[in-house]
Amino acid sequence: MCGIVGYVGSATPSTRPLDVALEGLGRLEYRGYDSAGVALVAPGVDTVHSAKKAGKLVNLRNELEASPLPHATASIGHTRWATHGAPSDVNAHPHLALGGKLAVIHNGIIENFFSLRHELLDMGVEFVSETDTEVAAHLIAQQYEITGDLTAAMRAVAQRLEGTFTLLAVHADAPDTVVGARHDSPLVVGLGDGENFLGSDVAAFIAHTREALELGQDQIATITPNAVVVTDFDGQVVQPKHFTVDWDASAAEKGGFWSFMAKEIADQPQAVADTLLGRTNESGDLILDDARIDESVLRSIDKIIVVACGTAAYAGHVAKYAIEHWCRIPVEIELAHEFRYRDPIVSARTLVVAMSQSGETMDTLMAVRHAQEQGAKVISIVNTHGSTIPRESDAVIYTHAGPEVAVASTKAFVSQITAAYLLGLYFAQLRGNMFRDEIHTVLEELRAMPQKIQEVLDRGERVREIARWMVDTSSVLFLGRHVGYPIALEGALKLKEIAYIHAEGFAAGELKHGPIALIEPGQPVFVIVPSPRGRNSLHSKVISNIQEIRARGARTLVIAEDGDEAVTPFADEVFWVPQCPTLLSPLLTIVPLQIFAAELARAKGLDVDQPRNLAKSVTVE
Ligand code: F6R
Repeated sequence: MCGIVGYVGSATPSTRPLDVALEGLGRLEYRGYDSAGVALVAPGVDTVHSAKKAGKLVNLRNELEASPLPHATASIGHTRWATHGAPSDVNAHPHLALGGKLAVIHNGIIENFFSLRHELLDMGVEFVSETDTEVAAHLIAQQYEITGDLTAAMRAVAQRLEGTFTLLAVHADAPDTVVGARHDSPLVVGLGDGENFLGSDVAAFIAHTREALELGQDQIATITPNAVVVTDFDGQVVQPKHFTVDWDASAAEKGGFWSFMAKEIADQPQAVADTLLGRTNESGDLILDDARIDESVLRSIDKIIVVACGTAAYAGHVAKYAIEHWCRIPVEIELAHEFRYRDPIVSARTLVVAMSQSGETMDTLMAVRHAQEQGAKVISIVNTHGSTIPRESDAVIYTHAGPEVAVASTKAFVSQITAAYLLGLYFAQLRGNMFRDEIHTVLEELRAMPQKIQEVLDRGERVREIARWMVDTSSVLFLGRHVGYPIALEGALKLKEIAYIHAEGFAAGELKHGPIALIEPGQPVFVIVPSPRGRNSLHSKVISNIQEIRARGARTLVIAEDGDEAVTPFADEVFWVPQCPTLLSPLLTIVPLQIFAAELARAKGLDVDQPRNLAKSVTVE
């Protein structure tokens, strides 16, 4: 979704404000966008200078090369993901008002824009675009005319807007100031030396500083080169929380890989290892991050509901198997966007676990708020520091996957699963469901997983060969059982998202209840086989499933544990993974499916990092 950068610094006008804005927008490209623009202000210049272009950032860069903008002291930059009005030059941000003295950029949707637009039209205001943002620009302009102060103008308008928004504004008369406001949409402050930054996430300014401030809901940040003042929508000064970003700019670069997705798949051993780091106190007991929840409350819970969307929901599905097994607490999985519309049964003894890579997914955030309104406590599992979901939760487990740039989630998924295991073990410890040494044994097994993931990666070439060979495939099915079931769903999602191939994941036991009708000669089917060392009946049932589809002509692509020779007679191809406890196996079995999807999309010549129609961070409902 839209990316936002703000910068103020250079004491004397220079190219730095534009450079920072363009560099930041480049790092935010992963969020998905369809047009881009910048606005600059400088002392003694009457109007804002701006440029905007539909399409990729390169179009804006070309425009700026053909018609350079003058040096400046502050800048705002925007990548737009169209909501109101088509992706065109004119609808791209920034939007100008006051005869070009004021420029505004916006992320989110202003829900009462229609009535506000009519109010402005009745006053004779002329609009040039179809966007809701231009309404905000004219309203801020009117307030600026009254107050002569950009922060006061922003505050007055923020109070009138309904919906979700991050708004940034600059005014030609205040060339040392950028003002940003947020309501249900992300905005963080970056702290520099004689310069300050705003961004929709820290990637916007990570090349310049790792020191940052979290902004709360309904707050306004006014940045100047040497100060940051944060106020609420009533004008009260608030103290934002300072944090240091635990990754640097190089973590957000491709590092020699052909795509961010390929790099992030390869990063998975590190992501899991980092997520496991620093989880115990001096006594060796597991702890939560940012816990604002009493242990006695956690001891009393009688149900867990995991709320999440897409890949994160599949990670939640894996969590169900582990948490129920270790803690004997019933766990439900709910797609966050369905949760609050079905009148869920939630009480003070329900714990809601919100899983989100971005920490900004609006559907998940709304589910969190709904759960809290019903009296439930919320623990979130989130990758992005400074984001909204962890700030509003009662406790957090941060995954330490580092920045995930590719739209299709990979390393965040395995980190979410890892964090969910930690949560399950934490509950088992707290509620006494497992002995201390049993918990430590599982932790040791978990610590062995990064090396095993690396082994699966090292065996990836055969998966890539098969993917290239299947470049013209029009449909692929995925079957799994137990923890293999959510992996089948995630494998199918990856293929849909980036290779645009029809793909379906099924619980293998469901086959005979309908999906087997899809099997015809040559139909490729991935089957995730559970370990024969686990519950043997489960293993043999999946082997029977493979036989059933093979008998009907399916081409069987089997993911099985090293040494499981029972699969070979029925497999056209086997992708072997190292042995590990069944509950932890999703960390391994997903890897060949990620590699397969990425390579097949690459063979089709598709942009795997920015698949069509998708945005990285879905900040609208
Ligand atoms: C798929 C994918 C999405 C996200 C979903 C939730 O590859 O990335 O399905 O998992 O949009 O996003 P977060 O985790 O940011 O809440």
